[in-house]
Amino acid sequence: MIERVRGFRDIFGEELEKFNKIREVSREVLKAFNYKEVILPVVEYEELYKRSIGDFTDVVEKEMFSFTDKGGRRLALRPEGTAGVVRFFIENKLYYKRPYSKLFYEGPMFRYERPQKGRYRQFYQVGAEFFGVLEPISDLEIILISEEILKRLKVSYKLHINSIGCRVCRPKYLEELKKFLREREGFCKDCQRRREKNPLRVLDCKEKSCQVLVEDAPKIDDYLCKECKEHYQKLKELLGEFKVEFYENPKLVRGLDYYTKTVFEFEVEGLTVLAGGRYDYLVEELGGIPTPAVGFALGIDRLVPLIEPPKREEEAYLLVFFGNGNYRYLQRILNSLKPKKFEIYPKANLKKALSFANKEGFKFVVIIGEDEVKGNYITIKDMQRGEQKKVYML
Ligand code: HAM
Repeated sequence: MIERVRGFRDIFGEELEKFNKIREVSREVLKAFNYKEVILPVVEYEELYKRSIGDFTDVVEKEMFSFTDKGGRRLALRPEGTAGVVRFFIENKLYYKRPYSKLFYEGPMFRYERPQKGRYRQFYQVGAEFFGVLEPISDLEIILISEEILKRLKVSYKLHINSIGCRVCRPKYLEELKKFLREREGFCKDCQRRREKNPLRVLDCKEKSCQVLVEDAPKIDDYLCKECKEHYQKLKELLGEFKVEFYENPKLVRGLDYYTKTVFEFEVEGLTVLAGGRYDYLVEELGGIPTPAVGFALGIDRLVPLIEPPKREEEAYLLVFFGNGNYRYLQRILNSLKPKKFEIYPKANLKKALSFANKEGFKFVVIIGEDEVKGNYITIKDMQRGEQKKVYML
C-alpha cells in the first residue's frame, strides 16, 4: 500500500470543520478591515526566497522544497506567503496605484522541517500584508486584526513583541553581538555557524544550552536608533490605548531575515500560532520603489486543536424512494426541497434507511413509497421526536 508522505497529512471530518471555521473567521475579519484577497502561485523562483527570507536562515538553507523543472529553472514550493505577495505587489506596480495597499491570502506552505506536534511539511497559513505606511498605526492595525481573529475563535494567547532595529542601528548591534558570541564556547553545531553568518538567529535557538549561553547577550533595545526607539515607544503607547496586553521579549528575533523594527508572536502553550512584523526594505530589495510594510500570518494547523468545532448544520433530510420507478415524482420533491440539505438513500429499503439516518444524525427522513406517489403526498418522519406526518404536494 502506498501511504502518505512523512510530514504531510489528510484533513477530514471534524478537523476539517474546524479548519474551515478558522478560514472563515479570518476572512470575515480581514474583509471587515478592507483587505483584498489575492491568490498566488504555490511555486516561485527559488531566488525570490533566497533574497527575501535570507540565504543563511533555516528556512532557505535547510527547509526549502526546491527543484529544477524540465526547462532548467530553479524553483521552490513556497515556504511562506510574504515574499510572493511582495513579488506580486512589485510586478503589478501597486505602489503607483494606491497610496497604500492591504492584501490577504491563504493556502498551503511547504517547509522541510522535522515533523512534530504542530509542525508539518505542508501547512496552511492565512496572512495579511499592509504596504505603504511607515507609522506605527499600521503595526497596530495588523496586531488588532490578529487579536480579533483569535478572540473570535475563543483562543487565549500571549502576545510577545520586540523591535529589531533598522539599517541604521542594527549593524552596530550585530557587531557587538558577534563579539559576544565569539567569546563563548559550547554552542550547538548550527549556532557555531550562525554566530558569524546570522548572529540574531542564535538568540532564537531552541537548544537549552544555547539559550543559557545567550542569557546576558547584548540587548538590541540598548542599540536602537532614535527613529526605531520612537517607533517602538509609540506602538507600545498605542497598544496600551487599545487595551492590547503584550509582553516585551528582547530575544524575539523571528526566523526570517526581512524584518525591521517591530516583530511579534502570538503564543499559546509554547507554540506560536500567529506571527509577523515590519519589513520596510523588502519591496526595495526585490526591485520595487521603497515601500514600508507590515504583516502577519497565522498557522491554521496549529489553531485547529485549540478551537471548538462549529455547530453542526441542522435539518438534513434523507430521502428514501421506493415509488415504483416514478422518478418524475422524485424530481418534483427534490425541486421543492432544494434549498435544504438533503441526500438520497441509494437503496429502496426503509428499515436500513431509518437506521442509517439515526446513525448519521439526519433530522428528517422523507419517505416516498408507492402510496405516497399515488396519493400525491410525502411522509416526513422527524427522527428526534419520532413523529410522522403527511405533506400533500401542490
Ligand atoms: P512564520 O513565523 O514563519 O512567519 O509563520 C507564521 C505561522 O505559520 C507560525 O506562527 C506558525 O503558526 C505557522 N507555521 C510555520 N511553520 C509551520 C509548520 N511547519 N507547521 C505548521 N505551522 C507552521 C511567516 O511565514 C511570515 N510570512 C509572516 C509574516 C507575514 N510576516 C510579515 N507578514
